[in-house]
Amino acid sequence: MDLQLKGKVALVTGAARGIGRGIALTLAGEGAQVAVNYVNRADAAEEVVRTIRSGGGEAQAIQADVGRYADAERLVAAALERFSRIDILVNNAGIVSRNPILEIPLEEWDRVVHTNFYGCFHCSRLVGQHMVARGGGGKIISISSIHGRVAKAGMGPYCATKAAIDMFSKQLAVELASHRINVNVVASGTITTDINIPLYKSTRPEDIALREAVLKRVPWGIIGEPEDIGRAVAFLASDAAHYITGAILYVDGGYVADGTPRA
Ligand SMILES: NC(=O)c1ccc[n+]([C@@H]2O[C@H](COP(=O)([O-])OP(=O)(O)OC[C@H]3O[C@@H](n4cnc5c(N)ncnc54)[C@H](O)[C@@H]3O)[C@@H](O)[C@H]2O)c1
Repeated sequence: MDLQLKGKVALVTGAARGIGRGIALTLAGEGAQVAVNYVNRADAAEEVVRTIRSGGGEAQAIQADVGRYADAERLVAAALERFSRIDILVNNAGIVSRNPILEIPLEEWDRVVHTNFYGCFHCSRLVGQHMVARGGGGKIISISSIHGRVAKAGMGPYCATKAAIDMFSKQLAVELASHRINVNVVASGTITTDINIPLYKSTRPEDIALREAVLKRVPWGIIGEPEDIGRAVAFLASDAAHYITGAILYVDGGYVADGTPRA
């Protein structure tokens, strides 16, 4: 792809591993300089930075818990100090909880809501303020999920926060349209990352059965890779997508399109 992101600066949250790492590497491969946010794995974030630099790009690791507003302020200030501008924000940081709503400890509910939804709100607000003040537009892309649209038993706060990200992004798209800031969502299907280790690495019979059930449910018949999400993000971050805003792009191998009953 040549999406002409050279000279652009991207901030990617939760970029030390998994989908965030894939997004950071894809954007850097398209020429963007990348602020690599991490919360507690400095070594992994530095590996992403080294990989980008060894490919001739530029990157900087910045620690912050995006669920805390003061941390998000420090993150955005540090990215601006290092790169002078932010053209692309990718709200990727997210965690999952596997507890039914009636049983989930309240602190765990709060942790998921703060990381997934408040993290998206905090960074979008702060970077949005910077983009509006600077002028010249910008791109805000948030990583949601097929489970913002389709419920999954035992993942209540996760599904609710992803649906919240979807609506929040439409709202922000409308509010920022006159500033030519595109706000979009990439709703991810099942991807091979640590969040899903039981699904693609485990050899326990129950996990193998689950993996087979998931594969049967995805029309494309495979689990996606972080770069599948990275390429969709890079497209939305480019001027090729200048008339796309308030959209939810499902990158899911056809999962939400398919209502076929399975045996
Ligand atoms: N993997 C999938 O199948 C899948 C499917 C749909 C959506 N998603 C979404 O994609 C995003 C990335 O998930 P992943 O699969 O790469 O998982 P992952 O666990 O590998 O990566 C999540 C990253 O977010 C970081 N993070 C967590 N809390 C943070 C915080 N408070 N502040 C900053 N960073 C924080 C983690 O340290 C980690 O680097 C998440 O938003 C997730 O909900 C993933």
